[in-house]
Amino acid sequence: MTKFNKLNPFHSKIIERTLLNKPGSSKATYHISLSLEGSDIRYNPGDSIGIWPTNDTPLVDEILSLLGADEHTKVYDGRTLNTIHLSTFLAKHANLKRVTPAFLQEVCGKTFDDPKERIAFTQSHDILDTLQMFRPHSVNFDTLSQYIAPLLPRFYSIASSQAAHPSHVHLLVATFAYEQNGRVLKGVGSDFLCREETQDVPIYLHPTETFTLPEDPSTPLIMIGPGTGVAPYKAFLEERIHSTEKTGKHWLFFGECNKSYDFYYEAFFSSIPDLSLSLAFSRDQEEKVYVQHKMLEEKEALYTWLMDGAVVYVCGDAKRMAKDVVKALHTIYEEVGNLSEEDAKSAIKELRKSKRLRMDVY
Ligand SMILES: Cc1cc2nc3c(=O)[nH]c(=O)nc-3n(C[C@H](O)[C@H](O)[C@H](O)COP(=O)(O)OP(=O)(O)OC[C@H]3O[C@@H](n4cnc5c(N)ncnc54)[C@H](O)[C@@H]3O)c2cc1C
Ligand SMILES: NC(=O)c1ccc[n+]([C@@H]2O[C@H](COP(=O)([O-])OP(=O)(O)OC[C@H]3O[C@@H](n4cnc5c(N)ncnc54)[C@H](OP(=O)(O)O)[C@@H]3O)[C@@H](O)[C@H]2O)c1
Repeated sequence: MTKFNKLNPFHSKIIERTLLNKPGSSKATYHISLSLEGSDIRYNPGDSIGIWPTNDTPLVDEILSLLGADEHTKVYDGRTLNTIHLSTFLAKHANLKRVTPAFLQEVCGKTFDDPKERIAFTQSHDILDTLQMFRPHSVNFDTLSQYIAPLLPRFYSIASSQAAHPSHVHLLVATFAYEQNGRVLKGVGSDFLCREETQDVPIYLHPTETFTLPEDPSTPLIMIGPGTGVAPYKAFLEERIHSTEKTGKHWLFFGECNKSYDFYYEAFFSSIPDLSLSLAFSRDQEEKVYVQHKMLEEKEALYTWLMDGAVVYVCGDAKRMAKDVVKALHTIYEEVGNLSEEDAKSAIKELRKSKRLRMDVY
């Protein structure tokens, strides 16, 4: 058991950061390799890494300047019971995207009579544009620190096997940006990991109990993971390649926007002998093609794999993809297994119960 944990993270160094999308892509997803040198962290395929991000310096500086504070200003942080620099508090402990009703009231002197209006405001403003809008005078910094929500860790699936990379951990991180009130906002954790100046990352292991490889290495694996959902499958396959035992068959369903730009780890996946690869590039043609469409195209073969005891893994988007993939499994039971709707539902329930349907979705 490692001594590093959420409250005592290991300070890891980024030793590689590579943009995996090719020029012309609409996406920016990075392969990141972190060093575990000097730590006793031991991870398993399927585990994730928790990271403590730092807010971007220009944003912190802008807030300091709006508050009339500087790098010497100190603040009492009631959560850690320490007096620290306000700049450190804003950079490492404050959720600068979230405006709490208490922050509005206690720091900005603003209350909303209509709760719907308050919710709409908090959902469309961050701390900087709230301070810009209300320009509160003589802010008490201890009050401010009390009413800002805490910055929380972010999780990333491990994309490597420690058998193959003893002192490294690989991550696959998707960045994104969107406009809000005339400013471009980025993801706090993803931007922290992917911006050039970041070199040190406080990390800890977030082990999984459910998204694990089956004990029997001869079990066939059906791995479904569009986008960054493919990350753990690089770990699974590296682990199985490094195993001395004879392993079962593997089938990967991967999807992204364009084949020419967004096929993450293409060389690795293409190099694995006997890996069945089904690819769904959604924007290479007029109508969308997703992993579940590829599953339905291969429904007879998938059903045979299921009957042969394959374990099905689903990783990536929770909002739509995971539900659609389970729906496709349902259709396969109905159409190929000739089950009624009710019996197909029971078959999926049984698949989950017997841990042959394992999901890691976010
Ligand atoms: C177990 C687990 C494993 C994960 N593995 C991975 C992984 O391997 N790779 C990976 O990239 N991610 C992974 N994630 C997701 C990751 O943890 C973060 O949630 C993700 O990186 C976004 O966090 P962030 O801090 O960058 O964004 P945040 O700063 O938290 O911002 C996200 C928020 O921004 C807002 N937002 C985003 N886009 C828009 C928009 N267009 N318009 C308006 N608002 C918007 C939404 O409110 C959204 O909730 C995983 C999550 C879990 C729980
Ligand atoms: N805003 C955030 O907080 C944030 C930031 C980064 C990532 N994420 C989440 O992290 C996950 C992974 O993101 P990602 O950028 O790696 O990839 P992604 O957004 O999941 O996209 C990967 C592929 O899946 C396709 N897709 C869209 N809807 C689908 C569906 N219903 N079923 C199957 N495939 C579908 C996409 O196609 P099209 O795009 O062409 O439709 C794309 O080809 C998602 O949950 C994403 O929402 C969230």
